[in-house]
Amino acid sequence: MCGIVGFVGRGPAAAPILDALRRLEYRGYDSAGIATLEHGLLTRRRAVGKLKNLESMLNCEPLVGRIGIGHTRWATHGRPSEDNAHPHAVGGVAVVHNGIIENHRELRKELKSAGACFATDTDTEVIAHLVSQQLKKGRVPIDAVRAALPRLEGAFALAFLFEGYENLIIGARKGSPLAVGYGRGEMYLGSDAIALAPLTDMINYLDDGDVTVITRQGIAFFNAQGERLRRSPAKIAGATVLAQKGEHRHFMVKEIHEQPSVVGQTLAQYIDVASGTIKIPNDAELGFRDINRVSITACGTAFYAGLIARYWFERYAGLPVEIDVASEFRYRNIPFDPGNLAVFVSQSGETADTLASLEFAKARGQRVLSVVNVASSTMARASQIVLPTLAGPEVGVASTKAFTCQLATLACLAIAAGRARGVLSADDEAALVRALVEVPGYMTRALELEPKIGQLARKLASSRNALFIGRGTNYPLALEGALKLKEITYIHAEGYAAGELKHGPIALIDKDIPVFVIAPGDMMFEKTMSNMHELIAREGRTILITDRKGASLASPGSWVTLVLPDMPALVAPLVFALPLQLIAYHTALVRGTDVDQPRNLAKSVTVE
Ligand code: F6R
Repeated sequence: MCGIVGFVGRGPAAAPILDALRRLEYRGYDSAGIATLEHGLLTRRRAVGKLKNLESMLNCEPLVGRIGIGHTRWATHGRPSEDNAHPHAVGGVAVVHNGIIENHRELRKELKSAGACFATDTDTEVIAHLVSQQLKKGRVPIDAVRAALPRLEGAFALAFLFEGYENLIIGARKGSPLAVGYGRGEMYLGSDAIALAPLTDMINYLDDGDVTVITRQGIAFFNAQGERLRRSPAKIAGATVLAQKGEHRHFMVKEIHEQPSVVGQTLAQYIDVASGTIKIPNDAELGFRDINRVSITACGTAFYAGLIARYWFERYAGLPVEIDVASEFRYRNIPFDPGNLAVFVSQSGETADTLASLEFAKARGQRVLSVVNVASSTMARASQIVLPTLAGPEVGVASTKAFTCQLATLACLAIAAGRARGVLSADDEAALVRALVEVPGYMTRALELEPKIGQLARKLASSRNALFIGRGTNYPLALEGALKLKEITYIHAEGYAAGELKHGPIALIDKDIPVFVIAPGDMMFEKTMSNMHELIAREGRTILITDRKGASLASPGSWVTLVLPDMPALVAPLVFALPLQLIAYHTALVRGTDVDQPRNLAKSVTVE
């Protein structure tokens, strides 16, 4: 994970680096650091914890250098501590790193036997030692870096600063994303274009194996063989304003409340309300008629969006769906079918496992489509077909609005496939479109449950465990509800298919474990009710989340009932997600956890 930044310009580097790091804090917030050159010498400030700690340190002990590199860390090797915080400096070279050096143990051993002394527990420090070793042999910085890089196995995006070189930053990329930005008399480097957005809209991306040499006058690119590459910068539409919380206490609750609007915007780009049809850009390219299968690959919440979409592709398009968490996808021996459409779902578009799976599928001739929220992301750039979600910047680490926008997009894709394949008639399509159009309204009404959920959260906050159950699309939604609760409240929670409980998990049931039963009044309702009553009979405390129809059919006994409006089955997962998000949020508030930046997590998981 981790975010990296580089700046070379006319004024002090620390302020723009700090600002860019703020935009990268979603990548990790265990510690942060900046190194600059002052009178040719490396000077560093590093602090454990959130970026504000580094900011306070810089207020007391400012850095004045006009060139620098910065880092915000999500610890992989070595606990979060000042020593382990980047930049790491050895013998006149400082480095910041995003990624993992897989052969760091062998390299450390080798370097130690050659006399190197290590100051940190990180994998990154070996890089600084390797480059410094080359400098000692009399090599100039670019040659030293070039000589060191082939020794590194794993993934990396790197930025180097060298003592005595006040006009030189070297960057390198293998596996982890890296962008450079162009200014007037100043140049930049960053993990993504958004980090550089306030500084410039002229951006270039490094490809795998590229090395870049950055000075105030310009940026040069070289491939792994050292040959100069021609690259022209492209103008990007940057999000220059850092998202603000407004009147909300946390980004997460702001993002929960944005859902009626951003889901509406996302739907608007895929729906033609007047004709009651779905409009998927590049529809022709998709060639749905020739597709005989869909595979969906994603991580975490995006994976659960994919699990829900599986039901839709099967039901509305008659397409079989294979679904994998991205960290497993490449390690199965999947027989690739040329008639498969490979779909990848990601908010950030930078998740290492999803990205690697996408490249893996592409290399095997698969048609690759991604559903991505960050338009400038690596995944969007690597895909043949991109369906953007218009959730806007999602800052809260727990995904909320990106999830429902992913669902909205995948629902449109499934309907478009169904229509193209003749599974849905024009009337069926129009009815489904009408249901989608109503989603923002249903969501607004779902948000009205917030006061009741706030009261419920007070009763839930002392729980140590919780279960979520559902059938059909409510089963993946149960998984998502459990994930939300555990990641921001630290209450252990599990999601189950309601019918599975009696195959083991029912042994956990007692009066202390709340069980959330997600059950709209659909064709599965009675079966789920039977499961709920099996729990009530064992003193289970059930919280029934249903619609008006379900509430009227349910026999009494649930501890609490949350009632949503009646809605067509297609859109229920988009709307039922909201009370689950609010339950997690309000329980976290009562427990006093760090809602937007929960412990041990990062917004974008850029390591495998
Ligand atoms: C959970 C959450 C994560 C992400 C996962 C994939 O709330 O946010 O599980 O969904 O890390 O991230 P993206 O969608 O950026 O690929």
